[in-house]
Amino acid sequence: MRTPVIAGNWKMNGSSEMARDLCGQLTDKLIQAGETARNIDIVVCPPAILLHPVSDAIAGSPIQSGSQDIDQNTSGAYTGQTAASMVVDAGAKYTLVGHSERRTIFGETDEMVAAKTTTALEHNLTPIICIGETQQEREADQTEDVVKRQVLAIVENCGISALHHAILAYEPVWAIGTGLTASPEQAQQVHQFIRQQLAANDSAIAEGCRILYGGSMKPENASDLLAQDDIDGGLIGGASLNSTDFFAICAAAIQQAA
Ligand code: 13P
Repeated sequence: MRTPVIAGNWKMNGSSEMARDLCGQLTDKLIQAGETARNIDIVVCPPAILLHPVSDAIAGSPIQSGSQDIDQNTSGAYTGQTAASMVVDAGAKYTLVGHSERRTIFGETDEMVAAKTTTALEHNLTPIICIGETQQEREADQTEDVVKRQVLAIVENCGISALHHAILAYEPVWAIGTGLTASPEQAQQVHQFIRQQLAANDSAIAEGCRILYGGSMKPENASDLLAQDDIDGGLIGGASLNSTDFFAICAAAIQQAA
């Protein structure tokens, strides 16, 4: 049984006040939910500058924090970048890598994503590696080619054992922030395909690797998505900015895990 993960990606939103309020409210709801809340992993990924207030707000709660990105280099003359050691210092246990917004807006390549994955693992951060096809690629029937290329870039550059400690997040780009969601069947099909790619390299790692779905996941569709065999959690954007909605998605995962 893979432990479900519900991760919130705040993107470039929030403030220290919002961090305190949202994490405080979420902690209260999780405490009320009781011990079963410990059956899933809950992660919030604020902008790096808010990791400290988030760390303060989640102390003693089941919530953990993650950054949205790290630099692949460990330190040095990289103005504006954030090192893995810095996000660890601020309390993070996870980091997103290769989010589609990083890939498309900031030009991150498969090789850079692999390098960041290695850096994260070297710092004992669990990377949540984001992959997924654009609308154009789906329409051209290239979904499997694209996710296979993205997964193999990790396997070839980092080694399959990296996937023993990492999490994958399938985020079809056309479903991000658009209100369009992959149907549970569409998502399951791609998740199963991703797991098959891992299994071709190592069946035990494939079986254990958690693959999250991201793209307009909300309280209304979370249960149906999370009920799929190969969907092991969610990476939530918009709905993670509201403690009621984010908790409702956590509650759906807690129920599945019971
Ligand atoms: P939305 O949930 O807003 O579609 O964003 C998904 C996402 O990009 C999470 O990383």
